[in-house]
Amino acid sequence: MRIAIGNDHVAIDMKNEIKNYLAGQGIEVIDVGTNSPERFNYPISGYKVAKLVTSGEVDCGVLICGTGVGISLAANKVHGIRACVCSDPYTARLSKQHNNTNIIAFGARVVGIETAKMIVDEWLNATYEGGRHQNRIDMIAEIEQTQDLKAAEE
Ligand code: RB5
Repeated sequence: MRIAIGNDHVAIDMKNEIKNYLAGQGIEVIDVGTNSPERFNYPISGYKVAKLVTSGEVDCGVLICGTGVGISLAANKVHGIRACVCSDPYTARLSKQHNNTNIIAFGARVVGIETAKMIVDEWLNATYEGGRHQNRIDMIAEIEQTQDLKAAEE
């Protein structure tokens, strides 16, 4: 498995801890984030990880900033990305099972490192369930591609 990881200046320590944690499980990690304490604009990492995911160069992505909000918003602007910012392992797991998320995000100022590891574990170990969930994901894609949603007119 290959995972892309990205961060801003707030999340350098957590990024490196998660990166090492994943590498310790034999996962190949591509780090496109910053390691400089200078201010770093999180959309750059969000965009880079998102493009690696949609191009198929990696299987999925992990994004970390102060809250996880800005960096996930940036990633979600790339067509085909379903990035979920979360602070708990339950949401992380369900976001894969029901929403087929391809990027998980969290905040270095919000969760501790052990919770962050649990979030990543639950997310990576979960499987998309398909079935009734696929129609809803297709609707999200329809909004993304057309800025319209036929079902909303019915
Ligand atoms: C940086 O100060 C902070 O805004 C950023 O890390 C993140 O929390 C944005 O959503």
